[in-house]
Amino acid sequence: MNVQTTSRYFETYARSMQDPEGFWRDAARAIDWIEPAKKIFDPSTGLYGRWFAGAVVNTCYNALDRHVAGGRGDQLALIHDSPLTDSVSTFTYAQMLHEVSTFAAILQDFGVAKGDRVIIYMPLVPEAMVAMLACARIGAVHSVVFGGFAAKELATRIDDAKPKLVLSASCGIEPGRIVAYKPLLDEAIRLAAHKVPASIILQRPQQTCDLTAGRDHDWKELRDKAVAANKSAACVPVLATDPLYILYTSGTTGVPKGVVRDNGGHLVAINWSMFNLYGVKPGEVWWCGSDIGWVVGHSYIVYGPLFHGNTSIMYEGKPVGTPDAGAFWRVISQHKAVAFFTAPTAFRAIKKEDPDGAFIKKYDLSHFRTLFLAGERGDPPTIAWAEQQLKVPVIDHWWQTETGWCIAGNPVGLGQLPVKHGSPTVAMPGYKIEVVDEASKPLPAGTMGSIVIKLPLPPGCLPTLWQQDERCREAYFSEFPGYYKTSDAGYLDADGYVFVMGRTDDIINVAGHRLSTGGMEEILASHPDVAECAVLGVRDTLKGEVPCGFLVLKAGAAKSPEQIEKEVVALVREKLGPVAAFKLAITVARLPKTRSGKILRGTIKKIADGDPWTLPATIEDPRALDEIGDALKGRT
Ligand code: COA
Ligand code: AMP
Repeated sequence: MNVQTTSRYFETYARSMQDPEGFWRDAARAIDWIEPAKKIFDPSTGLYGRWFAGAVVNTCYNALDRHVAGGRGDQLALIHDSPLTDSVSTFTYAQMLHEVSTFAAILQDFGVAKGDRVIIYMPLVPEAMVAMLACARIGAVHSVVFGGFAAKELATRIDDAKPKLVLSASCGIEPGRIVAYKPLLDEAIRLAAHKVPASIILQRPQQTCDLTAGRDHDWKELRDKAVAANKSAACVPVLATDPLYILYTSGTTGVPKGVVRDNGGHLVAINWSMFNLYGVKPGEVWWCGSDIGWVVGHSYIVYGPLFHGNTSIMYEGKPVGTPDAGAFWRVISQHKAVAFFTAPTAFRAIKKEDPDGAFIKKYDLSHFRTLFLAGERGDPPTIAWAEQQLKVPVIDHWWQTETGWCIAGNPVGLGQLPVKHGSPTVAMPGYKIEVVDEASKPLPAGTMGSIVIKLPLPPGCLPTLWQQDERCREAYFSEFPGYYKTSDAGYLDADGYVFVMGRTDDIINVAGHRLSTGGMEEILASHPDVAECAVLGVRDTLKGEVPCGFLVLKAGAAKSPEQIEKEVVALVREKLGPVAAFKLAITVARLPKTRSGKILRGTIKKIADGDPWTLPATIEDPRALDEIGDALKGRT
């Protein structure tokens, strides 16, 4: 490595490689354990070993109780800032503990106990955080489902997780429209084979809903009664290796993968990252502008800041339009956030509306030290613009739902390394990143290949998929024996900086949201007039990528191609949800294929993106590619 630096990164990383157990034993000292681990790492259990085997702990205790006991009771734990409802509300650590232990007692009244699953399908409101922590408090396993997913997606998750209880709200709020959650919930419960015994619904004043007799219960009524009766649940001890949550993420088919997070490894890794990676000290205000439906929201709206004694901002708004492109700077300045974490797409949205950064100049950002970006590749022009406008370090970092925390980043707390635009910088402790060819052979610096991580994965990463060890092994550990397959492609440079360039599977990244084109193809193919289809991600200046579907219609289809295109767009919104941003379906006479029948997706994408392309030698009929070019004219 040729990088000149005074950062403690190199010695820290080297120790995590040479003495992983010693490294994570030290990091674990920052956590309050009920019983310490019998083995820091037990290689004989799990799919690749388990961290903190035999330890007993409670995640909620580490997020709340110990801070109240330690003198942070009056410090704000949460600032909920919602331009969409024109409100700001706050909770101190003591208030949050009160809300959480009360709600945990309510969950117990519904028979929810250690190991039971609870689905949380809620907008970004403080009660969602209360619900997650209340589950953690009693050892229940939460599974948060993003509000932008449709009923069918929720039903799939209900059938996989088999929850005892579903927590939801009357509505979410998007700019210019209210999203009624209750009809989606009712439809999901109707579609699911698993019968949900009960649900608790938060009535939001912006739009209330009717409650279904015998199943739905009013959140506020239950809460007020429990408070009046002084109900409170104590922390339930769980094993470090017990599941804290399941978070479903797109796989290569329409069936999502239930990524499991355990209690102990998650506590240690996420807590370690708050100072060493993000450079934030306990007591400071931290803002992660994601949604609790995504892993970023789990780790850095809810758990990380609270483990570490920070004040966390939860923001129910958008980068632009709520009310303007200065919304982020208003929040940072008003609440004195020292660091902010969002996705590059949000910055592209701001840059489009306020290219000269006029709004930035209106606010006092003197407390603000660092901007972190993740969720998609930090494209160099966006990073450069943010650096120029904000005059603080802009740190791209790379991670996945599966890992739960950063794989490669620039450790601000240990000492920032030089930034190279286009790279999320270097491997975090515990991650040995390699770039290999199909035969698992390491490739030289600068050569593109599959990015893999040598096993074992560090604490915090997925131990398995929910009740699907075999699927987990098959998806992540079988193609490159001894490694975790990230399904990202890229290269390492001579300094060990990693460059993550794109996925090797059918996943696309739309506005920082991870979506499966295979899942969308299943929906398109379900239309009675569609004979064949292909969905791929085409370049988009705002969202990075947007899905585009090509349809071949059945002979004799009664409806016009325009009508069928409209119907499939509506179908994806109905079945997958608005988050898919599927707005473009194009009818073609045939799909370009190889002689062996494989659809030439790579070439179609290049044509759609306007990139140079060459005629694949194996193509069945070269004219099919010209037809794609013709069909795209005027449509993108
Ligand atoms: N509930 C219901 N619908 C939702 C929703 C939710 N929680 N979140 C988004 N949607 C809907 C939106 O209203 C939109 O619907 P529309 O097609 O009717 O307009 C659709 O899903 C797509 O939403 P989104 O991807 O947010 O696009 P947008 O055009 O509304 O906004 C950005 C574009 C760039 C401003 C926005 O994507 C953004 O802020 N992204 C930040 C990314 C991020 O936080 N990623 C998390 C990983 S770190
Ligand atoms: P998710 O599981 O939703 O967090 O999405 C993970 C995927 O997003 C990764 O596999 C990458 O393809 C992409 N991704 C996330 N962060 C970055 C980044 N900083 N640089 C490049 N790709 C990223």
